[in-house]
Amino acid sequence: MTVLVTGGAGYVGSHVAAELLSSGYDVIIADNFSNSSRGVPTDIGLAAGKNVECREADMTDFAALEKIFADKSIDGVVHCAGFKAAGESVIKPTEYYRNNIVSTLNLLDVMRARGVSRLIFSSSATVYGDPKTLPLTEAMAAWPCANPYGTTKLVIEKLIEDAAAADRSLSAVLLRYFNPVGSHRSGIIGEAPNGVPNNLMPHITRVALGRAEYLSVYGNDYDTRDGTCVRDYIHVADLARGHVAALRYCAERAGVEAVNLGRGSGYSVLELISAFERVNGVKIPYVAAGRRAGDVAAMYADVEKARRLFGWRAELSVDDMCRDAWNYAKLSATRRT
Ligand code: UD1
Repeated sequence: MTVLVTGGAGYVGSHVAAELLSSGYDVIIADNFSNSSRGVPTDIGLAAGKNVECREADMTDFAALEKIFADKSIDGVVHCAGFKAAGESVIKPTEYYRNNIVSTLNLLDVMRARGVSRLIFSSSATVYGDPKTLPLTEAMAAWPCANPYGTTKLVIEKLIEDAAAADRSLSAVLLRYFNPVGSHRSGIIGEAPNGVPNNLMPHITRVALGRAEYLSVYGNDYDTRDGTCVRDYIHVADLARGHVAALRYCAERAGVEAVNLGRGSGYSVLELISAFERVNGVKIPYVAAGRRAGDVAAMYADVEKARRLFGWRAELSVDDMCRDAWNYAKLSATRRT
């Protein structure tokens, strides 16, 4: 079975591609490398012990996308391509809407024209907005979202639902990721955005490497156990396995399901810092900074649906995430020098 992974050179896409390869699938990556490096496809091959085919393509370019499907017989798609920085989306809303939504419209049209019916979409817990109660169940998706990035995820979920209503053969799973961290166990692929990272773990590893003096902790006056924000961190390897499980599920039935991928428990920013220090024996100096716009106090998933539908649950711990994130950061620092 051949699977197209859009955005396959990105953080989540590269781990999904490696997991699919290790599970016996043939994989084609499509990426425009706008937020990843051209060396990633080779690294995926090294990590998985099997080469991956890569097409440089921008998915907003309908002809380029169509050519990939014309050249290859594709059985399923994992759609990870998209802009993903929530803060940036507030400054560049039209770019976010155009890129994320047009690429998905193109994909849905090409899939229908080619009779490809299995689709996994990389959605996000951002669709829950500012939660009223926890844990978050799939029925709680909230409108409006906190920022244009979140809105693109919710709109795309709706687009896929409407496409499935019109085409009863379409089988799609909307995977709502909580906070993916960590890296492939080989240390060869990991989170390597172009430019300054937005997310917490890449900031922690920058400090650990001595590339930043300290970590800014955004907000210490939230209504949480230590005042810092609580998130449901999930190892990217568990997340990648979740995609393979979802793809298998798609093979068995049509329709659309939204499914949370998280561990089902929350860690505060300070708890993550102290786990990183303990597991890796590295000190992470930090300073209390003001709250970051758009942050919510606490989020964690109800993970029952993923277990019920796919028999999937997260297996790796926060300690595993800290160890693997640091392993990747150290290895990639040596590979770059
Ligand atoms: C962010 C996005 C979310 C996206 C997810 C994965 C926002 C508001 N949300 O989630 O839409 O799906 O990334 O890409 O951007 N923190 C610090 N110091 C830092 C960095 C982060 O204290 O230098 C804190 C944040 O305030 C937050 C926690 O760490 O409380 C996690 O932040 P982050 O990794 O950016 O994830 P989210 O904001 O949860």
